[in-house]
Amino acid sequence: MQYLQKNDRQIYNLIQKEEKRQYSEVRLIPSENYTSKAVMEASGSVLTNKYSEGYAGKRYYQGQVYIDEIEILAKTRAEELFKVSHANVQPYSGSPANLACYMALLEPGDKIMGMTLTSGGHLTHGASVSAIGKLFEIVPYTVSEKTGLLDFDELEKIAIKEKPKLIIAGYTAYPRKVSFSKFKAIAKKVGAYLHADIAHISGLIVSGEHPSPSPHADTIMTTTHKSLRGPRGAMIMCNSKLAQDIDRAVFPGLQGGPHDNTTAAIAVALKEALGSDFRKYGKQVVRNAQALAEGLQEIGLKLSTGGTDTHLILADVTPLGLIGKQAAVALEKAGLIVNANTIPFDKRSPFSPSGIRLGTPAITTLGMKEKEMKEIVKFIKEVFDHVDNDRKLKQVRKEVEEFMASYR
Ligand SMILES: Cc1ncc(COP(=O)(O)O)c(C=O)c1O
Repeated sequence: MQYLQKNDRQIYNLIQKEEKRQYSEVRLIPSENYTSKAVMEASGSVLTNKYSEGYAGKRYYQGQVYIDEIEILAKTRAEELFKVSHANVQPYSGSPANLACYMALLEPGDKIMGMTLTSGGHLTHGASVSAIGKLFEIVPYTVSEKTGLLDFDELEKIAIKEKPKLIIAGYTAYPRKVSFSKFKAIAKKVGAYLHADIAHISGLIVSGEHPSPSPHADTIMTTTHKSLRGPRGAMIMCNSKLAQDIDRAVFPGLQGGPHDNTTAAIAVALKEALGSDFRKYGKQVVRNAQALAEGLQEIGLKLSTGGTDTHLILADVTPLGLIGKQAAVALEKAGLIVNANTIPFDKRSPFSPSGIRLGTPAITTLGMKEKEMKEIVKFIKEVFDHVDNDRKLKQVRKEVEEFMASYR
């Protein structure tokens, strides 16, 4: 980054520090990852100089010879990887992509059935503070209070009573596999569209670790930067019948020119995900999450649903006499990065929840396996045994930095 170093020393220095941080702390936020250098090169390329409103072959500006080829590559790779007949790779990110799906299928005021934020849904599944909560009528659902799992009998009852026009399956903090076929059966019964939001689990789906929504859902949305390990962005996938509606909802409905540098980086990430190594990666992500879950249970944390079969763990820290934010802050002091999170039916407020959320996509990319999960659990225990002892936390940080040194 010699040009940046010369032109803007402040930003250069901050990026250097952030890079150092990313490789010296244990990054356990389940929505984060490390992209390849190839993805970064495409993302930081001359493609950022181009404007290309429209779609391949139907652009509003000239000079699209290579951009069209790039977008077609990204689109066809997505279609091959997810086994769908149409992919739109232009959405700027997951939130506008979800909105584009709703705008394509619904009228403002229509009913959307989505998981509440506090039980693991995303803001864009109908939270009142989100534009989606203002534009549509929201029918919320939650998980079983007893098991923390999706309760399909209850979901069916709600759907029959409320008759939503669209049901959302897919979450930001749910540690178990989602049965898209069961969701489809309910949606079919009440004449609703099924929207699968696979932002978190798309990397697990393409590596065969999670059932695919592609035969069941009408629309599928994924971000590209989580377990899929691409640049920040999103894609929408659907059958050919809905293709035109989706494309129009993205452009000109919600967006102007696509970010061509991101499109190219998505194409690169999809090529990586089509390779056999990615299947191994997905398998290890889940194995690591299960090993981490087991260790966390052994040190006294209470896990939502009792464990995980994905990349993600939702842990109640109150049995240790802690609260979520306190635990997350103490862990950060020791170089372990998680986020405080509500657990379903949390007795505490969303601003000061009982839990933390952890995941393994990033540390698995670095090459960690079950053995390293044991080390990480030991660090976490040390932190939780000394949450108010800054000297001890500093000492753990040193050990964490030594542990991370071999993953650079
Ligand atoms: C399930 C789910 N959907 C949508 C989004 C929104 O993605 P973005 O942050 O790119 O807008 C997220 C982000 O965390 C998510 O977890």
